[in-house]
Amino acid sequence: MTELTIIRPDDFHNHLRQGELMPHLVQETEKVFGRTLVMPNTLPPVVTGEDLQRYRSELESVGADLQFLMTFKIIQETKPEMITGLKSAGAIAGKLYPQGVTTNAEDGVEDVENLFPVFEAMQQENVVLCIHGELSGVEDLQREEAFLPTLKKIHSNFSKLRIVLEHVSTEAAVQLVQELGEKVAATVTVHHLLLSTEDVRNGKLNPDHFCAPICKSEADRAALVQIALSGHPKFFFGSDSAPHSRKDKEGEHPKPGIYSTPVALPLLTGLFESHDKLDQLEDFTSRFGAEFYQLPQNQGQLSLVKEEWMVPKEYFGVVPLKKGERLKWKVMV
Ligand code: DOR
Ligand code: ZN
Repeated sequence: MTELTIIRPDDFHNHLRQGELMPHLVQETEKVFGRTLVMPNTLPPVVTGEDLQRYRSELESVGADLQFLMTFKIIQETKPEMITGLKSAGAIAGKLYPQGVTTNAEDGVEDVENLFPVFEAMQQENVVLCIHGELSGVEDLQREEAFLPTLKKIHSNFSKLRIVLEHVSTEAAVQLVQELGEKVAATVTVHHLLLSTEDVRNGKLNPDHFCAPICKSEADRAALVQIALSGHPKFFFGSDSAPHSRKDKEGEHPKPGIYSTPVALPLLTGLFESHDKLDQLEDFTSRFGAEFYQLPQNQGQLSLVKEEWMVPKEYFGVVPLKKGERLKWKVMV
């Protein structure tokens, strides 16, 4: 096959940031995706309905062709009474970050059970709970697995609440999400499908591949590839594209996050093709996520062509995944 056309994909986990970087990130996203779920861990964070409306207006002023699916950040101070207002401001999901697990998560949640009244309100309002599923204070390779009992507990207390375990990275999590019934789904990133721990640190850290959760073992990666290719409707694409400036990535304490928006679809197409599963790509990128979020499919399409191109070393001061490498598939714009 030399050309492929699919329903315009959605990115159900994207960091569009704020300030100077934001318009560039929106423009790159808009070249590929019809809709994107916008993460709220900006500076300042998106916590209230007002924050959300302000941020959405800023995004819309630079990205008229992209539909922004808005989220709010659940912090210790979030109150159940705020959920109705957030929903009417346009929120379709709230994002839970355990304290300290990733970029700008200093205001994250320390005690998840304190938030149960908030989850109750979200369940009632049919607002999705997106979870960064890592337990802080544990060795990084173990953090996701250590969080799984908390996921089980949330689900058993709120059996009608739709939950997305974001950027799933372990076989154990893939297993659990499959067991937990139709209300619990997971996003899968392109970097967790392609990288394992040795690509991140092998004697020394490669900041370009450093992200949270850290990419795990080959066995974990294989489990992610298997589930993404399998056509399981609870596993769908969310890039977790998380750009940081070169300076923030290359300092003594590099920030976690991989910028993948411009390479995501070419890489996924190559991966699905190499397993002879190109016919499953559209479900993964353009159907399953929309179904879980109770949204219609996108109207438009995206075409990719088998034509080699070289990934730039940098986009607006941000190093992308696969910088300087040649990819086989190219997005037609
Ligand atoms: O690697 C990551 N970077 N993981 C996250 O969960 C957050 C993200 C960011 O915002 O930089
Ligand atoms: Zn993220």
